[in-house]
Amino acid sequence: MSSSSAFKYGTIVSSRYFTNRESESKHLNTNFRNGIHTIIISPRRWGKSSLVEKVLGDLGKQEKNVKIVRLDLFSVKNELEFLEKFAKEVIKASSPKLDHWIAYTKEFLQSVVPSINLGVDPNNDFKLSFHLPDIEKKPDEILNLPEVIAQKKNIRFVICIDEFQNIAEFDNGAHMEKKLRALWQHHKKATYCLYGSKRHMMNEIFNNPSKPFYRFGDLIPLGKIKTEDWVKYIIERYKATGKHISPDIAALIPRWMSNHSWYVQQLANFTWQLSPERSEYHHVLTALEDVINSNVPFFQKIAEELSPTQLNLLKAIAAGEKSLNSKETMSQYSVGTSAMVTKNKKLLIEKDLIDQTPDGFEFLDPAFRLWFLKQYFNRDYESVISLTSESS
Ligand SMILES: Nc1ncnc2c1ncn2[C@@H]1O[C@H](COP(=O)(O)OP(=O)(O)O)[C@@H](O)[C@H]1O
Ligand SMILES: [Mg+2]
Repeated sequence: MSSSSAFKYGTIVSSRYFTNRESESKHLNTNFRNGIHTIIISPRRWGKSSLVEKVLGDLGKQEKNVKIVRLDLFSVKNELEFLEKFAKEVIKASSPKLDHWIAYTKEFLQSVVPSINLGVDPNNDFKLSFHLPDIEKKPDEILNLPEVIAQKKNIRFVICIDEFQNIAEFDNGAHMEKKLRALWQHHKKATYCLYGSKRHMMNEIFNNPSKPFYRFGDLIPLGKIKTEDWVKYIIERYKATGKHISPDIAALIPRWMSNHSWYVQQLANFTWQLSPERSEYHHVLTALEDVINSNVPFFQKIAEELSPTQLNLLKAIAAGEKSLNSKETMSQYSVGTSAMVTKNKKLLIEKDLIDQTPDGFEFLDPAFRLWFLKQYFNRDYESVISLTSESS
């Protein structure tokens, strides 16, 4: 898709595809400037990475003395990989110059023996690797690297670590959590922003009083962008690309997608593409079918991986049942014993399929919900969304 497409979804969005989040941006910016560690938790695809990236972009312009480190632990599987990545990114961020990287590596990583291999473009890429026995003896030296460099060079670091919960899944994850916390809490010139999408794991790391990262920093649960803000954004993007949509029609898009950032952009994009010049109700409806259809294999896989009682529990939730452990619900939906309901409820939450809200449970994926209602209750999309529209 060319850069002139009307809407964008995938991973990080910026500039004209980034909207709203004013108060969150301000909050995060203030924390970074004041050295307050921050934790951000939200389901996947609501906009954590985009928000952090946006704030880092602003920060880089405002404060030349602050060096920014970005780490994504998505594919990092063990302690060694983490330490290598950490060291490499801290060194790269500390200076724009290749000779500094080499000098810093020698100066600040004394007890581990690193080997440096330059990539195809030596000014943008280098590979730093360590001998395993060295690193296992001295991880502290690497974990303290930002603080040590910052003190010596009179700079500061803001270190952002995406999908941070992966640390807990390392072989010695618990030990690693303890070590990180013990060292990082003494850092005065390195500020950490730790975020992730696996909410039950993030909560376990940061909200459990018996865990080392309890109260490590300011915890921000990232919410959804409001309907009216999405409407403004959608109308603006239509204008910028020479098409039209009325506020009423534009409002259907966030409503039908429960304001889920990624899906709002996807549905908006499908609608825009289908519409010759002006988008009407039937364009949004057809686009909705396309969005759902393009995800069907994925939805089928989710459903197939559930046990019969789990699937039945999800049906009860889809049908709007609130007291899942009640006698009526249990017999109507064949969800098994009360203990099984409790266990499956926890599992569906851990799989990020459902969310517990003050008034019951809801599906986290709005398109999956629509597909699910059609699949198991024979409800057509239009009848479901017309109810959604009335109630919001
Ligand atoms: N502030 C925003 N403005 C517009 N679209 C957004 C915004 N935040 C997220 N999105 C949409 O959601 C998608 C996922 O965002 P991302 O930042 O990757 O979420 P997360 O890191 O929480 O998984 C983006 O590709 C974009 O389509
Ligand atoms: Mg992300």
